[in-house]
Amino acid sequence: MSGQIAVIGGVSFDLPGEDFELETPFGQVMVRRARLGSREVLFVSRHGQNHLPPHRVEYRAILWAVSQAGADRVISVNTVGSMAHHPPGSFFIPLDFVEFTRSRKNTFYEDRAVHVDLSQPYCPQVRLALAGALRSAGMEPFEGVYVCTEGPHLESPAQIRMMSQFGEVVGMTGYPEVVLARELELCYASLCIVTNPACGLGQGALSLAEVVINMQRSLEMARDVLARAVELLPKERHCDCRKALEGAGL
Ligand code: HPA
Repeated sequence: MSGQIAVIGGVSFDLPGEDFELETPFGQVMVRRARLGSREVLFVSRHGQNHLPPHRVEYRAILWAVSQAGADRVISVNTVGSMAHHPPGSFFIPLDFVEFTRSRKNTFYEDRAVHVDLSQPYCPQVRLALAGALRSAGMEPFEGVYVCTEGPHLESPAQIRMMSQFGEVVGMTGYPEVVLARELELCYASLCIVTNPACGLGQGALSLAEVVINMQRSLEMARDVLARAVELLPKERHCDCRKALEGAGL
């Protein structure tokens, strides 16, 4: 069935439902038919049961699988550190990105030149729905540039000083999802959950426990915001995401 919405969940983010396996050219993916408020959505846990580190996630398999399963819109949930003093527990919607990854396959087109346009890397319709959902839940959405690092190590203070010239939040999972979705002509936007001040900007060392605990605190709110966003999404896609391949190849 086409026209579905998929949610890609990050650290500790989950939706209840029934799993099925999908075979893709890039490996098997566990997809879940899940409930979000009154709607059925598709859900994929990005890190899977064995919690793959961000640089080993097969992003192509995930995007391919949700597209195969009938999704044409994707909402990604990503945890981030803030380089601009957003409090932990606040939500951030990327408008654009910069990336410092190294080892990730970032295209489905290995054999021919396809250059998708990224003038608006994140779907404006899905972004608007997320922003509306946050406001209706009583929160002001922060927006700006997402910086993606390779990880798995956290950043050094000097890296954060450099990257804070480029963007407001830093994470390890937002890229290449955003461009792979565009190559499949899917609408894609991200709901980032700020779990910590970026390295060097908080008090002392940063631990994964801090990230996980703060994520878990925001879990219910994130589910509520997503449920509201799904309700706010217009039935029809009016954005250019659905035509991303027009004029992208020779
Ligand atoms: N850096 C990179 N990725 C992250 C962070 C961070 O501070 N917090 C959550 N994901």
